[in-house]
Amino acid sequence: MKKLVSGIKPTGELTLGSYIGAVKQYIELQKEYDSYFFVADLHAITKYQDPKELREKTKKIVALYLACGLDPKQATIYLQSENPYHSHLSWILSCNTYLGELNRMTQYKDQKIKDSNLSVGFYTYPVLMAADIVIYDAEYVPVGEDQVQHVELARDIVQRFNKRYGNKLIMPESIVPKIGARIKDLQEPTKKMSKSDGECKGSILLLDDEKIVRKKVMSAITDSDNLVKYDVKNKPGISNLITIYSSLSNLSIKEVETEFIDKNYGEFKTAVADKIVEVLKPIQDKYYEYINSDMIDEVLDQGIKKVTVIAQKKCELIAKAVGLGRQKC
Ligand code: AMP
Ligand code: TRP
Repeated sequence: MKKLVSGIKPTGELTLGSYIGAVKQYIELQKEYDSYFFVADLHAITKYQDPKELREKTKKIVALYLACGLDPKQATIYLQSENPYHSHLSWILSCNTYLGELNRMTQYKDQKIKDSNLSVGFYTYPVLMAADIVIYDAEYVPVGEDQVQHVELARDIVQRFNKRYGNKLIMPESIVPKIGARIKDLQEPTKKMSKSDGECKGSILLLDDEKIVRKKVMSAITDSDNLVKYDVKNKPGISNLITIYSSLSNLSIKEVETEFIDKNYGEFKTAVADKIVEVLKPIQDKYYEYINSDMIDEVLDQGIKKVTVIAQKKCELIAKAVGLGRQKC
C-alpha cells in the first residue's frame, strides 16, 4: 500500500481554508493509502508560542482531526514532537541542503520582511518538513497550495541525498485539491484565509458558531456586478465564495454558476452560509464530544508507538548510509 503523510501546525484555530485545502483530502485519501497524519508542534515553535496555549491548541487539532473524520482504524495519528527521529533526520538532511535553497522559500522571504527576529528554526523549517515526509517513505503529501514549494524542496533534497548516498529515500509528490487549494480571506480576497489573523473577520474557523459564520459570509467583500460568475482576476471575492460552495457540495465550478445563474449575491451568500453551517455542525458536535474524552490520548499513544518504530528503523538506515556511528557500510 502506498504511503502518505501530512501535518498541520497548532498555531491557531483551524480554518475553513485548512479544511478545504488539506483535511477534506485527508478524509478521502485515508481510505486508499497507508496514511500518517500528525500535529506539527515542532513547526509551531519556530515562532514563540505560549506553552500552555500550545498544548491546548495541539489537543484541539487532534480532536478536530477526529471530528472531521480521520479514522484511527485507517490512519495513524500522532504528535511530531513525541517522535525524536524527525529532528534527528532533519539535522542530517540540513547538511544536504543549501543556504540558497532556503533563501528562496516564499514563506521565509515573506516573513523576513515582517519580522526582524526570525528564529533559525523558522529558516530551516522546510528541512524538518522534508524529514517528516521521507522518514515514513511517503510517496504522497496532501497539502494546500502554500506548502507545495516546501514539498518541491523535499524532492530536491531527496534527489541530492540519493545521488550522494545511494537510493535511500523515496521521492515524495504533493497532492493538491483541484478546487480550493488556496481559499482566500473573506475581507481581502486576494490574500490566503489564514488562522493567525488576529480578529479573524475574513477567516471562518471550524468552531465558529452558526451566527458568526452567517455574519462573516454575509459581510464578505464582493463586487457590484450581482452576477455569480467565476472570474478570479476581476471578481476575486465572489470567485472565492464559488470555490467554497463548490468544494463543500462536491459540485464543479460550472455547476455552481448554473445553479445560481439568476440569483443575486444576497441569495448566493445565504446558500454559501447554509452549506458551511451544514458541514460544520456535525464536526462541531463531534469535537465537543471528543475534546475532553480519553480518546485523544488513546489515539496518540497508539500512533506514536507505531511511528517511532518505523522512524527509528529508517533513521538508522540513513545514518549508516551517511557513515555515522560505528557500523560499517
Ligand atoms: P496551516 O493551517 O497553515 O498549518 O496549514 C495546514 C494545511 O492546510 C496545509 O496543507 C495548508 O496548505 C492548508 N491550508 C491552510 N490555509 C489554507 C487556505 N486558505 N486554502 C487552502 N489550503 C490551506
Ligand atoms: N508546514 C506545514 C504547514 O504549515 C505543516 C507540515 C509540517 C507538513 N510538516 C509537514 C505538511 C509534512 C505536510 C508534510 O501547513
